[in-house]
Amino acid sequence: MSKTTVVSLQKKKQMGEPIVLLTAYDCIMGQLLAEVGVDIVLVGDSLGNVFQGDTTTQSVTISQMVYHTAAVRRGWPDGFIVADMPFMTAVVSEADTVRHAGRLIQSGRADAVKIEVMHARQLPLLAAVVASGIPVMAHIGFTPQAVTQLGGYRVQGRTDASAAACLELAKQCEAQGAFSVLLELVPDAVSKQITAAVSVPVIGVGAGPSCDGQGLVSTDVVGLSPKVPQFATQYADVRSSMKQAFSSFQAAVSDGSFPTSFTQA
Ligand code: KIV
Repeated sequence: MSKTTVVSLQKKKQMGEPIVLLTAYDCIMGQLLAEVGVDIVLVGDSLGNVFQGDTTTQSVTISQMVYHTAAVRRGWPDGFIVADMPFMTAVVSEADTVRHAGRLIQSGRADAVKIEVMHARQLPLLAAVVASGIPVMAHIGFTPQAVTQLGGYRVQGRTDASAAACLELAKQCEAQGAFSVLLELVPDAVSKQITAAVSVPVIGVGAGPSCDGQGLVSTDVVGLSPKVPQFATQYADVRSSMKQAFSSFQAAVSDGSFPTSFTQA
């Protein structure tokens, strides 16, 4: 299995080979994704929902992102790991943004960072990170960190004006040096236009089949999340399996059938 790089991802787009992205938040998930060999592991700030049980991703801090990214790295030393820049870490200034991105690379040992680009005003900040030598994936369309401003979890790019703004932002992100675009919750017609208009790989999350690749939150894919978004496909029911195992252990301890052959020295 050859290691993913920004160049190999670019080649995949050129060859029309679909790119696979899944999220991971800990070492075990990193190990499993290594065994499968996905193209991109995203340590998403969705860990705020998945791991911390919050309703938004806004409470996730840079220190938490560093901690989780380093854990995933231990699970897959050679994987291509993209770490999310959490709420408020890529909006204040160029220096501030570069410093946060640097922590994810140096201490989290990520290969690249993802920035939610909510407004064209962030483009110089994205460019500053690229100029510091750090590859940037630009996240556009629905940007969960702006959920309050967007009025909830809503599909973006439904109107002509909003679709045109999405397309323009994708082009500007490419122009500022983003190595890839993650497109969340936009209609397939918009994804199709954007995927054709930019030369960097476009990964869709609930953005239809026309993108260069598809991404999902791992806990949705394995059926561990309590609620799976409509656009996600669940390929297993790990939640039921885990519940079954926990209650078997509980029952075994309760009825005395739990093996007690282990003796302490
Ligand atoms: O944080 C995350 O997991 C994301 C998803 C859209 C994949 O950004």
